[in-house]
Amino acid sequence: MSKDHIVESLTGKTMIKHKSKMPAKLDFLQSATGLVLALFILFHLIFESSILLGKDSMYTLTKMFEGEFIIEGGSPLFISVLAFVIFSIFIFHAFLAMRKFPNSYREYLRYRTHAKLMNHADTNLWFIQITTGFMLFFLGSIHLYTMMTQPMNIGPFASSDRIYSDLMWPMYLMLLVSVVLHAGVGVYRLIMKWGWFDGENPRENRVKTRKIIKMVVLFYLLIGLFSLLSYMKIGYEHQANYGEKYHHSSEVKHAN
Ligand code: HEM
Repeated sequence: MSKDHIVESLTGKTMIKHKSKMPAKLDFLQSATGLVLALFILFHLIFESSILLGKDSMYTLTKMFEGEFIIEGGSPLFISVLAFVIFSIFIFHAFLAMRKFPNSYREYLRYRTHAKLMNHADTNLWFIQITTGFMLFFLGSIHLYTMMTQPMNIGPFASSDRIYSDLMWPMYLMLLVSVVLHAGVGVYRLIMKWGWFDGENPRENRVKTRKIIKMVVLFYLLIGLFSLLSYMKIGYEHQANYGEKYHHSSEVKHAN
């Protein structure tokens, strides 16, 4: 261990009496990984709602993610690799976020009382983010591990069987609400922190930003909810043929 690290750990300052730049660097990394994950979710929930357009649409998209345009028939390995990359960013983001969690009941109580006394909207948002972030540690890991290890079981029937017959829908419902709120609040806080859309009139633009984010969060909750219901309906109707793979309607016609 370097002398520098020993001095810094005891005094909070480096040997040349400078405040460490590490907390700022970690903060930046937390924002950057959060933004990447939020962008991923923005696209993910749209792609995944393709089930609302029909089974063929979801099947075609699944095949695209399996790299059908690169190798014939595609390979689930592409999805495994993508899930591994996203899982790694997810774990790194969670690791960095752990610094922000209250680490004792006293500290939690102090935060909570402070938030209640202030009753400041953005401080309350911070609580939503901590709570949903905690839920995501578990729910996000279940989902990502499944996607990484069972990429061959994705599709209009396989996904619906998992959601309905394997009883994953309560997990997905909690995951949906927690990830949409977490990403919405996270992106809002990033915009406020870095003043991205402050412009000439920060006060007015911040009110506008809040309204837009609320609408986007509501939109994503709704499409997520309707997609989930759609998967459940397909899964319910497919119970008797559990495990059977979907074929694109054009292939079925061909076979007949
Ligand atoms: C590369 C990584 C990922 C892949 C391949 C993937 C794939 C999928 C698939 C195929 C579904 C449909 C249900 C199923 O088949 O089980 C789904 C649903 C869902 N995923 Fe992911 N996912 C990934 C990462 C994530 C992450 C990081 C999150 C959030 C932390 C997330 C949140 C959700 C939610 C909330 C649903 C349910 C959406 C709804 O209600 O309709 N996914 N995902």
